[in-house]
Amino acid sequence: MSQHDWRKSVVYQIYPKSFNDTTGNGQGDLQGIIEKLDYLAFLGVDYIWLTPVYESPMNDNGYDISNYFKINEQFGTKEDLETLIDESHKRNLKVMLDIVINHTSTEHEWFKSAYENKESPYRDYYFFRKSKDGQPPTNWESKFGGNAWQYDPVTDEYYLHLFDVTQADLNWDNTEVRRALYDIINYWIDFGVDGFRFDVINLVSKDEFKDSNKIGKEFYTDGPRVHEYLHEMNRHTFGDKEMMTVGEMSSTTIEDCIKYSNPERQELSSVFNFHHLKVDYVNGEKWTKGQLDFQKLKHILMEWQLGIHQGGGWNAIFWCNHDQPRVVSRFGSDATEALREQSAKMLATVLHMLQGTPYIYQGEEIGMTNPHFNSIDQYRDVESTNAFAEMKRKGYDAATILEILDQKSRDNSRTPMQWSNETNGDFTSGTPWIDVPDNVASINVEAAINDKQSVLYTYRRLIQLRHEYDIITYGSIEPLYIGHEQLFIYNRHYNEETWTVIANFSQKRVCLPEDLTVEGEIMVSNGELIDGKISGFGSIVIKRV
Ligand code: GLC
Repeated sequence: MSQHDWRKSVVYQIYPKSFNDTTGNGQGDLQGIIEKLDYLAFLGVDYIWLTPVYESPMNDNGYDISNYFKINEQFGTKEDLETLIDESHKRNLKVMLDIVINHTSTEHEWFKSAYENKESPYRDYYFFRKSKDGQPPTNWESKFGGNAWQYDPVTDEYYLHLFDVTQADLNWDNTEVRRALYDIINYWIDFGVDGFRFDVINLVSKDEFKDSNKIGKEFYTDGPRVHEYLHEMNRHTFGDKEMMTVGEMSSTTIEDCIKYSNPERQELSSVFNFHHLKVDYVNGEKWTKGQLDFQKLKHILMEWQLGIHQGGGWNAIFWCNHDQPRVVSRFGSDATEALREQSAKMLATVLHMLQGTPYIYQGEEIGMTNPHFNSIDQYRDVESTNAFAEMKRKGYDAATILEILDQKSRDNSRTPMQWSNETNGDFTSGTPWIDVPDNVASINVEAAINDKQSVLYTYRRLIQLRHEYDIITYGSIEPLYIGHEQLFIYNRHYNEETWTVIANFSQKRVCLPEDLTVEGEIMVSNGELIDGKISGFGSIVIKRV
């Protein structure tokens, strides 16, 4: 296989608002990203993915787009983006944009024309429906809380918003809408980007508008025409270009994800799913204080690895993104510096040795932790503040709600990138839009670069291994000792070669299974292996000889 096969790539996700501020307004910007490209080249990633940088009222930090052809002034200008792309290319970095086309902001011209006006040519760009006996058209719940329909008093109809009330769902059944969306994608292809991440793209085909006995997901997840639409989008836009695409798939299935990502179907290159991250939910509920169900985590990851491999699809693999808490606080431990370092390295290793395209979310590579905020005033995210209000309404006491937010809030990952031990981690010379975690003095990029034993060098090594050894990209996977209580063990096989990955998810020293040998060349490891025991949060990758 060629060296340039996109499947050998590693992607680095940037949340521009929290990455690097060059203006002193407390929010990151495009120039700030340009300043740090050398660092990303040093890390060795192949792509950077920018979460949305288009014009937006920022109610959902850019996932509410009001103009797809303009750059949000807060982030800079189109010239800045052009420079960013050019400077990235000079360093062999490719750039992916985030495309949010399941919905627009209610500030978008289309919606402004459609709202309160049944005659508008854009009315059918959205889902406006009559009320049902004075109630919303269906009982579906918004993913950010409350009913998913918002009343338009002038026309006495409701519009659908699966997310915030300012994010109105687009009607993909309307051919004109699809055509307009393809024009947007083509505009950015011509602009020079190298790939796209498609936001909640498996929600674009809605089924009938009927009441649900749950929250309504079954009527719009992997909907009836979704594969037809994605194939059509592929053919009208990026399909014949050298582009890497990834779709964010909400509550999806392996079967659908094979269809989305098997190249023969000409839909997308790869898929994100979230099942492996719901393993600390209590009874499937996010807003709870749960514990990692380690068995479930292993089973889900392995089921997806095997299923997608067999079906010829392609996974995006990840622990972290801008919607998830920090993995080291979540599935590892940030209780002490030693535990943090060991568990961050172990988690990196166990993920990067899987098949698929690994995504690193800014700060993950230095083992950034949840900020452990202790006041609701420190939270900014609309989903978190809605959840806070909802839990209060249900009668939870404030301390419990804060503990839940500390574990689940999306703001856990949105705190500023920690560049150095200077004020505010050198993220901004002004006041950051969201607080910087207290541990910035010890956890920061500068310190990580200066310490060859730091988490950063483990990530660097893992990226190099992927580039160098085809087995990591193409090899099949074989789960081993799947029921083991503390260890995550699997083999990779490719041609005549076998690699074994062993990871200890507990703080304690654990005996390896008796019949598991550790002979071979050690490709990467952390912790120690003594007398058949692997240290707490230790991991090791062995190339069998
Ligand atoms: C995706 C994004 C998330 C956003 C939502 C609505 O899940 O990752 O940040 O809030 O879509 O656009």
